[in-house]
Amino acid sequence: MLKKTELSLEEMGRRAHIIPGQEPELKVSVRRIPVSELDVERGIVPVCEPMLMGNEAKYVLDCLQTNWISSAGKYIPLFEEKFSRCCHTSYGVACTSGTTALHLAMAALGVGPEDEVIVPTFTMIATANAVTYTGAKPVLVDSEMETWNMDPALVETRITPRTKAIMPIHTYGHPADMDALQDIAQRHGLYLVEDAAEAHGAEYKGRRAGSLSDVACFSFYANKIITTGEGGMLTTNNPEIAAITRNLRDHAFSTERHFWHKYVGFNYRMTNVQAAIGLAQTEHFDDFVALRRNHALLYNSLLRDVPGLRLPPEKPWAKNVFWMYGILVEDEFGISRDELRRKLAAKGIETRTFFIPIHLQPIYFSQHGEESYPVAEELCRRGMYLPSASSLKEEDIHFVVECVRECAAARWV
Ligand SMILES: Cc1ncc(COP(=O)(O)O)c(C=O)c1O
Repeated sequence: MLKKTELSLEEMGRRAHIIPGQEPELKVSVRRIPVSELDVERGIVPVCEPMLMGNEAKYVLDCLQTNWISSAGKYIPLFEEKFSRCCHTSYGVACTSGTTALHLAMAALGVGPEDEVIVPTFTMIATANAVTYTGAKPVLVDSEMETWNMDPALVETRITPRTKAIMPIHTYGHPADMDALQDIAQRHGLYLVEDAAEAHGAEYKGRRAGSLSDVACFSFYANKIITTGEGGMLTTNNPEIAAITRNLRDHAFSTERHFWHKYVGFNYRMTNVQAAIGLAQTEHFDDFVALRRNHALLYNSLLRDVPGLRLPPEKPWAKNVFWMYGILVEDEFGISRDELRRKLAAKGIETRTFFIPIHLQPIYFSQHGEESYPVAEELCRRGMYLPSASSLKEEDIHFVVECVRECAAARWV
């Protein structure tokens, strides 16, 4: 049977305090509606939820009525074409998740047991796991405090003769410094892969996430800016990468004869039903991005003067799409990040802590636990995101901010 990797907090030593504890209990909130002066139960303000506002039901019904519910059907190529156009790329290859998109990218580039792939330690587990699936080793790099993204200045120090690729993520929707990474990749003959799972519509110097590397990988999980429930897509301008990933996602069936396989492929095929939802969502691509950005700008304007809160970054060369509205709770705020989360949860406001870095994960600790990544650890210790769904109402944002400000003010009374 599969064995769990156990890691107690004691074994983590001085880093133990970084790891967040139990999730706070979320209470249903009662809020006063200003016009009616009535207290009404408003439920919770979720950290995120999907927003289905267009042709989703119509296209899904079409799949059901025409019997095209599997991984063939018209919505798959239509979705691939529309989404890849939104990313300013020539090809899109839909698959079952962001994770399987990353695995397909690694497999298509020939990453294998002798190789290393450089990834940020401050990321969601799938970035590193996609490398591990191939037998290769994820090599970790710390982030910049200014953007929360992989620090290009540190990447070069981690290159070895085994390095095959560099795979940054665009953290919470802010693009990584892709020119600097591209320059390193070119000088060392490495592939550059974007883990763009969180960055639909983000821009780097006017160029869209998804078009900034050899191949990019998106997630369409239900909390993403564009969703298919579960799903993913690779985008690329490289016809060879498009063809290989398309083939690998479908068991690598050969074109010469059926049931003939020259690669070890996978079944990572997206269904027509998922693609139908994805197409309907992508018809509102710009609207979804604008909603996320507008919410973030409203949060920024209302939280800017709160002492001890560091608001999410946006470099002059970047368009951050604020997939999640992340903040850092510094000592000056007066209560800890976890205490703030507890107080918000008691008012029905759901939040999340930032990622726990890869080097502190039980499954990677034995290889990387002794390495030092101070920025990632600081982000893990202080970071949280506030409700960020596209469907948030302005009044929800005002309510969240009011509660955050109350917590800050409590320190001064
Ligand atoms: C940076 C990053 N990479 C990969 C993934 C994996 O995507 P999925 O959940 O669709 O497999 C996620 C999911 O949120 C993510 O945030």
